[in-house]
Amino acid sequence: MNLNMGILSQSIFHLLWAALVVCQYEDYDFEDDYEEPDQQTPYYFNPNTQAEVPRFPFPVECARECFCPPAFPLSMYCDHRKLKTIPNIPSHVQQLYLQNNAIEAVPAAPFTNVTFVREINLSYNKIKFHMIDQGVFAKLSSLVQLYLQHNELEEFPFPLPSSLERLLLGFNKISRLPGDALEGLPNITTLDLCSNLLDDSVLQDRPFSNMKNLMQLNLCNNKLQTMPPGLPPSLMHLSLENNSISYIPENYFHRLPNIIALRMSHNNLQDVPRNTFNLPNLLELNLGHNKLKQVFYIPRSLQHLYIEGNELENINVTLMCPTLDPLNIHQLTYIRVDQNKLTSPISSYAFFCFPLIRTIYYGEQNVTLNKPTRLRTPVFRRFLTPEEYQEAEDNHETHSQDTEEDHEAQDNNYFYPYFH
Ligand SMILES: *[C@@H]1O[C@H](CO)[C@@H](O)[C@H](O)[C@H]1NC(C)=O
Ligand SMILES: *[C@@H]1O[C@H](CO)[C@@H](O)[C@H](O)[C@H]1NC(C)=O
Ligand SMILES: *[C@@H]1O[C@H](CO)[C@@H](O)[C@H](O)[C@H]1NC(C)=O
Ligand SMILES: *[C@@H]1O[C@H](CO)[C@@H](O)[C@H](O)[C@H]1NC(C)=O
Ligand SMILES: *[C@@H]1O[C@H](CO)[C@@H](O)[C@H](O)[C@H]1NC(C)=O
Ligand SMILES: *[C@@H]1O[C@H](CO)[C@@H](O)[C@H](O)[C@H]1NC(C)=O
Repeated sequence: MNLNMGILSQSIFHLLWAALVVCQYEDYDFEDDYEEPDQQTPYYFNPNTQAEVPRFPFPVECARECFCPPAFPLSMYCDHRKLKTIPNIPSHVQQLYLQNNAIEAVPAAPFTNVTFVREINLSYNKIKFHMIDQGVFAKLSSLVQLYLQHNELEEFPFPLPSSLERLLLGFNKISRLPGDALEGLPNITTLDLCSNLLDDSVLQDRPFSNMKNLMQLNLCNNKLQTMPPGLPPSLMHLSLENNSISYIPENYFHRLPNIIALRMSHNNLQDVPRNTFNLPNLLELNLGHNKLKQVFYIPRSLQHLYIEGNELENINVTLMCPTLDPLNIHQLTYIRVDQNKLTSPISSYAFFCFPLIRTIYYGEQNVTLNKPTRLRTPVFRRFLTPEEYQEAEDNHETHSQDTEEDHEAQDNNYFYPYFH
């Protein structure tokens, strides 16, 4: 049930996404803005045709420095061109690609005629906050996606248009998020702030609390020491990897029932309250490379669990799975436990609790200093039907000869998409 909901909502997300991409072309009504072209066949955009594409029914204006492909007449490609300034943007452009240049400033002038732009990629440039003209983005009232990752922003680039849905700001130097900067952005679904300089004080004002459509929030590689307060209940994907978070407050996730994937690897967690992850839709939980000494309750929906690189001396399966319910079985298929301090294989009770388990990646354990021990076969694989429960008990060391890390989990990336 929970699993189905998770998959369903993911599929809906994919569908919405596909619809959005298609709509970019459909809702462009050129009759309103241009004279009826004298052309026999109407122009239809079809991204799948390999065959000859009909010419756009009017001469497409294009900046001298850029490329406007006849097949994608609403896009202007100015990427990878060593540009230092933004060229003048023709009014019809909907997709603007300016990534991988040496642009430092975003002045208002080149955007004077722009009305329809929906997507701007300005990633991998040298843009600084004080070089962005006040309000230049805010007036782009059709802008849905803005990519500014890998720049030199020291501050959140507000104001932004309220139409915005995806905002990527990873790999900048943002250390401040003015409380009202995010307030007028109700439609944001994806916000990436990975690899910035955010600390707890910045998040005290709960800057994300009014983003009622926020589904994915990335705060990885920052300087957080506590869990961010006031996250909106719409959230499905949360990444807090590589901060310095040392505890999760009791009931922290009560207000976040829609979480599907939670990534908190490379933090300082020592102990998590036993029922912290009582999240009915959780599919992926990554707590690798913390300082955990004990396992915790995991929800029945969970499929992939990463707890490698902690200080676990044993894995008490009873804590992870306090009750058996044959009508509502645990969905767990993959556990990664290498680089802990385990001295014996995981109890065969695990195969009762987790009948769908396929791989327990046991790997190397850090038992004696300078001399890690390694089990002869570090990967346990199971392909069990409920009828095989009994067999599992008698034969819990059914090993595969495969010593390579299982890559199943990597194929199932619940963070969709993942940003670099
Ligand atoms: C805006 O459009 C006008 C009229 O077509 C044109 O003269 C002007 O150069 C354009 N400005 C920019 C910045 O593209
Ligand atoms: C934006 O540019 C970056 C850098 O080249 C690229 O990785 C990314 O795919 C682009 N995004 C879109 C949606 O075009
Ligand atoms: C926000 O999204 C809704 C639903 O897609 C849409 O109707 C509304 O116009 C959007 N708001 C803005 C300011 O674009
Ligand atoms: C963790 O984040 C820091 C910056 O805060 C970065 O330099 C480092 O490479 C990151 N480490 C990992 C494992 O991602
Ligand atoms: C595992 O945890 C349960 C519940 O807290 C406890 O009763 C039991 O003694 C533990 N087992 C071991 C082997 O530590
Ligand atoms: C292994 O354990 C030792 C002692 O607890 C610790 O100093 C070391 O960092 C650990 N190594 C790894 C790879 O976790």
